[in-house]
Amino acid sequence: MNKVVIGAQWGDEGKAKITDLLAENSDLIIRYQGGCNAGHTVVVDNKTYKFHLIPSGILYGNKTCFLGAGTVILPESFEAEVKGLISDGIDVSGLKISPLASVTMPYHTEIDGYSENNAKKGKIGTTKKGIGPTYTDKSGRIGFKAQDLYSDEALEEKLDVILPIKNKVLKEVYGLKPYSKEEIRELCKKYAEIFRPYICFDWQEMLNKFKNGHNILFEGAQGVMLDVDYGTYPYVTSSNPIGGGAATGSGYGPTVIDEVIGVAKAYVTRVGEGPFVTELNDETGNKIRDIGHEYGVTTGRPRRCGWFDAVTMKYAVLTGGITSIALTKIDVFDDFDEIKICTAYRDKRNGEIYNSYPTDVFIHKYLEPVYETHNGWKTDITGIRNYDDLPQNVKSYLSRLEELLEVPISIVSVGPDREQTIFKCC
Ligand code: GDP
Ligand code: IMO
Ligand code: MG
Repeated sequence: MNKVVIGAQWGDEGKAKITDLLAENSDLIIRYQGGCNAGHTVVVDNKTYKFHLIPSGILYGNKTCFLGAGTVILPESFEAEVKGLISDGIDVSGLKISPLASVTMPYHTEIDGYSENNAKKGKIGTTKKGIGPTYTDKSGRIGFKAQDLYSDEALEEKLDVILPIKNKVLKEVYGLKPYSKEEIRELCKKYAEIFRPYICFDWQEMLNKFKNGHNILFEGAQGVMLDVDYGTYPYVTSSNPIGGGAATGSGYGPTVIDEVIGVAKAYVTRVGEGPFVTELNDETGNKIRDIGHEYGVTTGRPRRCGWFDAVTMKYAVLTGGITSIALTKIDVFDDFDEIKICTAYRDKRNGEIYNSYPTDVFIHKYLEPVYETHNGWKTDITGIRNYDDLPQNVKSYLSRLEELLEVPISIVSVGPDREQTIFKCC
């Protein structure tokens, strides 16, 4: 069985916990989009591991973990992450990089930082890891791929073509320092050494080997609502976190995918700017943030919190290609008297009701959530491991979500640890 794990909201849904669980029975784990903007947390026996780019499956020591062509790699961040894993005693020999992955250059992070720091209007609130500028250059056909670092011919031609354009933009648009050919050449040499133990030039043979008779797990980063095509554009990341991203970013086409598991929190969080109809700027929002420890893994920023939004979630089920849901952090509500689910949006200007997600995000400021309220369970559920043992109010809440979303909930997560998981039969 080949499964894709994607975020069904605005990221940080607990994807890494679910990926880690499913990685146990997988042979190959592929990260197919995004870069070190991701912050993925896995807790095993009370020890916390934080990943940015490397698939969490690496923890098992005997899995092949592949960074696909759809990813962007900031070499210094990659190096630091690998060193951290090695110093934790983790075997990274299964780690492989696609020669087609894109390389984030220093000017990408500089431009990202400059744009964020100087935006007067339309600030995105990015992670400043150079993600947008790297993908911009990739689409603009002026990017560096990992394989270029090992080819003098490719490098020299690219330096001739790319550098004059980049330097003009750096100087004239951003007022930033230009780079000499020699500087970039030296950096590329350094990056080539960082990637050398992992670059996988025989990736076609490797993917063919795993294609039949093995389990492949595709690990998504970010979430559907941050997708560059389907998310709250322009307040999105620059890649495709939808299930379809696995088909373009991994090296396998869509035909190998059997299931897409959409990970969603029992509430919603968002970091960075952009619309968020169910956001709670009140005591309830603060309570969710405190109990759920909602602070960014990559940037430490407090996450914006709000009630579960079935409108965006139904949209995520459709556009993400989601076949079942892993619902996480439901334990955060253990002490809540009541829990709300947004089932529709109402336009404050004219009372119009939206049952489907309106993709024009510039009207979202006029929308208010239509809620239904469910009774809390006022019980600590973090120790429960069987679905049948859950309080009736939890079961009713889960059934209602399944009814609204028209897709089964296959996994219920009741705590950060690997063990704190309930596999629900569909
Ligand atoms: P990701 O980016 O989707 O992998 O998620 P993050 O790691 O950024 O954020 C999810 C946070 O929630 C992490 O700190 C996890 O350890 C934690 N977590 C995951 N599942 C659960 C859960 O069911 N309950 C609680 N309380 N915490 C969880
Ligand atoms: P994981 O994989 C939550 C957000 C940023 C910003 C927008 C664009 O941990 O779920 P970028 O640096 O990608 O250009 O920023 O996307 N963002 C995330 N939010 N979780 C993430 O990753 C994110 N990666 C990017 O906050 O709003
Ligand atoms: Mg995260």
